[in-house]
Amino acid sequence: MKHRGPTGRSPLTPRGEAITDRLVCTRPEPAAAGGYQQLFSRPEIGEWLRPPPLEPFTRPGIETMFRADRTHRESHGFGPWALRERDSGDFAGRAGLAWTRVEGGPMVELPWAILPGRQGSGFATEAALAAVETARDLDLDRVVSLTLPGNRASIRVMDKAGLTRSGEVGHAGLPHLLYELRL
Ligand SMILES: CC(C)(COP(=O)(O)OP(=O)(O)OC[C@H]1O[C@@H](n2cnc3c(N)ncnc32)[C@H](O)[C@@H]1OP(=O)(O)O)[C@@H](O)C(=O)NCCC(=O)NCCS
Repeated sequence: MKHRGPTGRSPLTPRGEAITDRLVCTRPEPAAAGGYQQLFSRPEIGEWLRPPPLEPFTRPGIETMFRADRTHRESHGFGPWALRERDSGDFAGRAGLAWTRVEGGPMVELPWAILPGRQGSGFATEAALAAVETARDLDLDRVVSLTLPGNRASIRVMDKAGLTRSGEVGHAGLPHLLYELRL
């Protein structure tokens, strides 16, 4: 029997989504397209997600990611989230759950990126914990997270969300640290 903690999912919250103390975490709705452009066009985000020699984010590339995030939910019953602050309704970032391949094997990854102006307030951690609870609710047996070795903020979020380091892998053509949590 798997552990089931509080899911952050009220009876009104669809399976695969979450509401936390400060965030509404849902499939990106059409109005979030602008938030994605705002987020991924920021150099502070691109430097970690698309460092050289990877191609930097482009407007059409961000649009493709946005559409793929919406489709992911339809195909798999869960997916990446657009994060909105509960108080203001403002777009704050992207997190959630996403299938990825790590050295050829399929794994469910926890992605996170927070608008630079809203970083440092615990939003990534809050969303990561909600994603872990959602993964449990979905009966997944493990989640992973991948990061460039120098990304100390992301590594700290992994620690705070309960993931532990399990190895070093090549990912997107670059060496990454692999963290995981068995559920
Ligand atoms: C990683 C990221 C999502 C964190 O978002 P956030 O909302 O600021 O994260 P949180 O506030 O929940 O926690 C960040 C933690 O990292 C710490 N931190 C931030 N910058 C740091 C640094 N340079 N060195 C060490 N720790 C750092 C913070 O102090 C905090 O830890 P604390 O609560 O113990 O003080 C955000 O920095 C981001 O969007 N980065 C660019 C995209 C990215 O790197 N995504 C992950 C790819 S693997």
